[in-house]
Amino acid sequence: MTVQAPAAPQRYSFVVASNRLPVDRVIDPDGTARWANSPGGLVTALEPVMRANNGAWVGWAGQPDLQLDPFESDGISIVPVPLTADDIRMYYEGFSNDTLWPLYHDVISHPQYHREWWDSYVQVNRRFADAVAEVSEQGAVVWVQDYQLQLVPRMLREDRPDLTIGFFNHIPFPPYGIYSQLPWRTQIIEGLLGADVIGFQRLADANNFTRAVRRLKGFPTKGATIEVPLIDESVGVRAHGPIPEGKPFRTVIARHFPISIDADSFEEMARRPEIIERARQIREELGNPERIILGVDRLDYTKGIAHRLKAFGELLRDGSMTAGEVTLVQVASPSRERVEAYRQLRDEIELMVGRINGDYGTIGHAPVSYHHTSYPRDEMVALYLAADVMLVTALRDGMNLVAKEYVATRTDDDGVLILSEFAGASDELKRALLVNPHDIDGLKHAILRALHMPRAERRTRMRSLRRRVFEHDVAAWSSAFLAVLTGNGHAESLQADILHDELDEDAQPETGPMTIDV
Ligand code: G6P
Repeated sequence: MTVQAPAAPQRYSFVVASNRLPVDRVIDPDGTARWANSPGGLVTALEPVMRANNGAWVGWAGQPDLQLDPFESDGISIVPVPLTADDIRMYYEGFSNDTLWPLYHDVISHPQYHREWWDSYVQVNRRFADAVAEVSEQGAVVWVQDYQLQLVPRMLREDRPDLTIGFFNHIPFPPYGIYSQLPWRTQIIEGLLGADVIGFQRLADANNFTRAVRRLKGFPTKGATIEVPLIDESVGVRAHGPIPEGKPFRTVIARHFPISIDADSFEEMARRPEIIERARQIREELGNPERIILGVDRLDYTKGIAHRLKAFGELLRDGSMTAGEVTLVQVASPSRERVEAYRQLRDEIELMVGRINGDYGTIGHAPVSYHHTSYPRDEMVALYLAADVMLVTALRDGMNLVAKEYVATRTDDDGVLILSEFAGASDELKRALLVNPHDIDGLKHAILRALHMPRAERRTRMRSLRRRVFEHDVAAWSSAFLAVLTGNGHAESLQADILHDELDEDAQPETGPMTIDV
């Protein structure tokens, strides 16, 4: 890939901000640094929008104290925001991942509330907002991503009332009874209300958010629309131009836009002969068991890895299946390793894996093939192809893209997806075997059902799942969001009224005068 000197235009009409940049800094063995595109769905979806609209991406390069000038990487303008080691400890590992992350995931782990972490979160959000304001041209469209940057919309609206501001929350938004624990609950709501459109994964998340708005701010809400008074300084709302008579409020839309994957690229990989051959090899390396069950997760306590191991271990103990017949391949990619809850989780999972393999393994065969690593995408696709059953047992998950990736690769219309009803994907992937991962007997029953499901039923279910994933891919997601956003800027023709909860999620409003090519 090519790295060039800073791109000519210093201001952009479409700006995306996320905690992490879509490029990784890679240090080669000879010590030279280069940038590699990280192949996430978000960047795949937004790349064409960026190119068509003079776009830039603002974010952190993933390492402490890197002061970098803006640069261009594979056609994308990159604007790095530096974080110090203290910022990483308090804003990223602390407030983002040890306060908000557990709080927003149903307090599966105890959120830690520290005032100095909050101060750091405010400071870093300010730095991001300043960086975005600096590179956004007059009237630009800005799209802020995820829970690490919830204060950015309000900060931007205060400084740059000319911008159209969108926000998308990739993780769940919790019910008010949980959310209200947060000592800074009002500031976060005010931060988000700086946006014109706030997107969530599920309808339930959007509803949780609007309820929090009513409870904490008392603003009227109707379906997906919130009326934010233009004179209320707490939400950073300064009128852009004179306050219109009879409409002294700004309309904010809060609704669901379930994210997806670049399904075509997964399918294309799944058809490559070398990947199909690799899938065969994987089965062989595992000793050609009759059935392979696969789990693929970041090593995170929200993923329910311990629950699935418990169910799997009990099935071996009960004699419902034998170790030679079935192998569970568990890929657990390292994540947030300096946060205590994640360290403890690793110990817990690895103890369980060791016990199962010690109790039921033979010299030649371990029932759980466990990998604490992340694999490149082609190896992941080969694993998906090799797996008869995909096990997604999240206790809470915004969406879970692994479930969609598995479906996209199954060009043979085969394979069974077991999916937690607590993952956002279960709203769409209704023909999966849906499970409550807390119900270990129910989980065991689903695993056995998947292992013994007749081919005809597997085919019918997989076809229906594939239809959904291909019709609602990540490009459809970003266009739907941006169409609503550009129809709800400061332009007059707000389409909010038609966006009530009952609306078919596929329907898009006509865009207003501000447009962006999507
Ligand atoms: C989740 C979050 C993302 C985050 C990713 C990886 O998917 O929604 O915002 O980037 O996890 O976590 P990390 O802390 O490594 O960025």
